[in-house]
Amino acid sequence: MAGNNNTLRGKNIHTFMVSFPGQGHVNPLLRLGRRLAALGALVTFCAPEAAGASIRKNNSITDDSRPTPCGRGAIRFQFFDDDWDFNSPSCDDFRAYLAQMEAAGREKLPELIHKEAEAGRPVSCLINNPFIPWVSDVAESLSIPNAVLWIQSCACFSAYYHYHNGLVPFPTAQEPEMDVQLPRMPLLRHDEFPDFLHPRSPYVFLRDAILGQFRNLTIPSCVLMDTLDEIERDNIEYMSRVIGRPIRTVGPLCKELDLESECKALRADFFKAEDCIEWLDSKPPRLVVYISFGSVVHLRQEQVDEIANGLAESEVSFLWVVRPLPREKNWKPHVLPDGFLDMVGERGRIVQWSPQEEVLAHLSMACFMTHCGWNSTMEVLASGVPVMAFPQWGDQVTNAKFMVDVFKVGLRMCRGEVEGRVVPRDEVASVLEAVVRGPRAKEIRANALKWKKAAETAVAERGSSYMNMQCFVEEVASFDLVPN
Ligand code: UDX
Repeated sequence: MAGNNNTLRGKNIHTFMVSFPGQGHVNPLLRLGRRLAALGALVTFCAPEAAGASIRKNNSITDDSRPTPCGRGAIRFQFFDDDWDFNSPSCDDFRAYLAQMEAAGREKLPELIHKEAEAGRPVSCLINNPFIPWVSDVAESLSIPNAVLWIQSCACFSAYYHYHNGLVPFPTAQEPEMDVQLPRMPLLRHDEFPDFLHPRSPYVFLRDAILGQFRNLTIPSCVLMDTLDEIERDNIEYMSRVIGRPIRTVGPLCKELDLESECKALRADFFKAEDCIEWLDSKPPRLVVYISFGSVVHLRQEQVDEIANGLAESEVSFLWVVRPLPREKNWKPHVLPDGFLDMVGERGRIVQWSPQEEVLAHLSMACFMTHCGWNSTMEVLASGVPVMAFPQWGDQVTNAKFMVDVFKVGLRMCRGEVEGRVVPRDEVASVLEAVVRGPRAKEIRANALKWKKAAETAVAERGSSYMNMQCFVEEVASFDLVPN
């Protein structure tokens, strides 16, 4: 591994990253890994086999393979066996999986880390993302410094923190429609804060999983965030003071660096990305709507029908991701209305999975109909593309609120799954028309371009995220390494 005397103080840095096996978790952590490697670190990207199997199958990645050179450093992959049986009838029991992964990880991670030290690559820092707070315990038990990569907005971080510590009132079963006022934030209505925290949420297991990190927040030396100062500065400063450790914004992590093509091509998709760029090339500028609901949301079939019919009515070109079902879910696959594909012909393209960052960066993009997951949110802000906000649950409803009311980069299509409403075809067509050609379209596009510029500045040399990344690397280089 190459070393650089300025940024790494002549030390070899080995950051060992551990990811929860979700696409929305893996992507930002791998992007962070790429940046750390670019600065000279050796990065080991580690995840349980639940992710390993899909990642190996759909990308040119094998574990224990030769490290891929990346800038002045390199990245390698290592998956650990989580002993989870995907063929068992209870394979979609999330709580049971988390417990199983934790048991396996607590035993196997220290072994992997010892092996690294024996091979002359002692680990300088252990970085994890949410849902696996026990990684912080492993770091502490081995006396290895730890940092957490928070993969949502600072607004959501604040909501979880204040809820966990009982610092502000949240809706209760008796008062379900209470608004929530968090410091340094606009008032959030009862359906605008991360809805795992609402007593009516059916996703209590996800609330518990995400709050786990807040029980362990005293271990990490800092919290890295895939956001940028320019979009939530006050909140970031405030929350840094409240938690008593630095919050270092390093986003948008999706912004490409000038790296070797081999390193740029390093993706960890759980599904095979289909090539749709040639098709986009054949379309005029700003005329294609891109539709994707991330890696987890599964819409009702009636909603899929209405979106299809709305697209058919609107006469725009569209690229629509209709995902295959996850192997552990017993859901019915979506079907498109009879005759739909013939009716839209060359105007529409359906794929099972797309290279989303490339798609959003394409000149043909008119707007993005998105479920507002935080990765999609950062990716669309970084691309300057207007938004049709179609949130479902969790942080998505908060991200939609910020995109529509605070950043003003798009229009709202719904208020989340809790509404229990199917957005009808004429509304799909009319919001699409409004975002692309309506009276507010110009203003929306101008705002989108303003945030794109802010994102570019943040990651460029001397920008806020760039400086924070340098600061973090300096900090890791300054830790006194103990043999692990
Ligand atoms: C989950 C949660 O649902 C989300 O609310 C939370 O903020 C992060 O974890 P997910 O629903 O998958 O994430 O959405 P998102 O955060 O947008 O992440 C999806 C990732 O998959 C993005 O990086 C996106 O670029 C990528 N993607 C999606 C593709 O590469 N191709 C696709 O076709 C669809």
